[in-house]
Amino acid sequence: MKNHFLINKQGAWIILFAMVLTISSCTGEKKQVINFPATDLAMENMIPKPTKIIPTNSAFGLDQFTAIYTSQSESGFNEVAEFLSDKIQGKTGLNLPVNQSDAGTVDRVIYINKTDSTEVAGSEGYQLYITKDSIILNARSSEGAFRGIQTLRQIIPEVSNDTLAEQPIWPIPTGKISDNPNFEYRASMLDVARHFFSVEDVKKYIDLLAYYKINVLHLHLTDDQGWRIEIKSWPKLTEIGGSTEVGGESGGFYTQEDYKDIVAYAAKHYMTIIPEVDMPGHTNAASVSYPILNGNGKTPELYEGTHVGFSTFDTRKDTVYAFIDDVVREISEITPGPYFHIGGDESHVTKKNDYIYFVQKVEKIVQKYGKRMIGWDEVAQANLDGSSVVHFWNSEENANKAVEKGMKVILSPATKAYLDMEYDTLSKFGLHWAAYIPVDTAYIWTPESFAKGVPQESILGVEAPLWSETISNIDELEYLAFPRMIGYSELSWSTEENRNWDNFKVRLANQAPFLDRMDVKYYASPKIDWKESKYSYKEISKD
Ligand code: ACM
Repeated sequence: MKNHFLINKQGAWIILFAMVLTISSCTGEKKQVINFPATDLAMENMIPKPTKIIPTNSAFGLDQFTAIYTSQSESGFNEVAEFLSDKIQGKTGLNLPVNQSDAGTVDRVIYINKTDSTEVAGSEGYQLYITKDSIILNARSSEGAFRGIQTLRQIIPEVSNDTLAEQPIWPIPTGKISDNPNFEYRASMLDVARHFFSVEDVKKYIDLLAYYKINVLHLHLTDDQGWRIEIKSWPKLTEIGGSTEVGGESGGFYTQEDYKDIVAYAAKHYMTIIPEVDMPGHTNAASVSYPILNGNGKTPELYEGTHVGFSTFDTRKDTVYAFIDDVVREISEITPGPYFHIGGDESHVTKKNDYIYFVQKVEKIVQKYGKRMIGWDEVAQANLDGSSVVHFWNSEENANKAVEKGMKVILSPATKAYLDMEYDTLSKFGLHWAAYIPVDTAYIWTPESFAKGVPQESILGVEAPLWSETISNIDELEYLAFPRMIGYSELSWSTEENRNWDNFKVRLANQAPFLDRMDVKYYASPKIDWKESKYSYKEISKD
């Protein structure tokens, strides 16, 4: 290691302050010397795997005499430190002070430092320098700091060592980690239309995703079976269109206040919410609410089944575009993220010319409200702006059209990345029209070269969509999403050289204590040698 700490001038005096504090706290009382057994940072169960790890084979003793400090110059760092302190308390019971000058006895510090160094790559990159006395986390932004503290959370042991000193200590292996993401877009999608999921359910999903450095949650807000977001200028969408769901249970919807609550919670986790209003197909719930929108020539009725492809808006009616303008405006006003997803998939009863006309008009509406349009891969048939994004799920031909137009592509190949596909023939939930996707199949593929004709430069990132035809509550959601979602996090964050199934599956096995602590009802796949899991394979598969 060239220099012990990589810090800028602003940070330097604060680190000095922290060091002085450390030393001064020890003047009265002799600082404890703790002899840690050798521990190897490279053997820790971090997911996604960081870009570079250099172990130094000692340990930092996290204990009640540890305090957290941050750069004060940059907004957001204090909140990231508070988040870390809160999570450390949840895991260890320790209550670490944040930026307190009178923190009492402080033997060791965690310092979250804003750096301008080009050694830290991009806004999400970070470095962790862990020595016996201090943990320095360097990041260029609070977003990078937030990603970095997830790594730190992962290397704090689940149980303390109570023999090294009088107080319980959680030894953290020393060394240096340099890390930054391979793809800027690392996402999951949740279909809240086929079955509705509460704000609390969505927040729990965000908690879990953020721990694995996922930074986008795409919400599929509307479909044939339900309209789930309040539109103040068209209130029947939720009054009527939100009243049911697949299977005939009462549905539900997010008020705009609920949606803002989700968006704010996501923002606290440095996660972008992408709203999707699927159109011109998948619009039965909208057309039942306002039959003037309907273009399939039939009288729409509430639908509780799972067929697709039977609905369409009337793409040649001005009222339809006035409606879409209101919907995009109202949702965009409460969506700080840069994207608006217009769906566009499986419009089987929309004539091709009408479909293309529609998508091109809707792209302009999305742009009018300052957003970048995303559409499922069928939209690539239209003549679209290079700034719009194509979401590949099924057709490589469409993905290629997008690349030719200079558009970015999101990868969600149904055969590899659909979280609603069954693990195997014994799966309790899910479908298998695209494939069975066991835990290894979900991980063993190469996004960088998966779609022929889609080079890495054209790939915005990877998304794992969770469609909800077969799941209706958080336990069932967790069964399909976990553990596969953990693999998608590594596929989208870590470089190809750093991904290896045999190595990953050991780190995955060691996620069991975290998943159990979070009360996640994951599928304990028999392909993984789970550590101390609450679940057995028998309990979680079909009889
Ligand atoms: C899709 O699965 N219809 C995008």
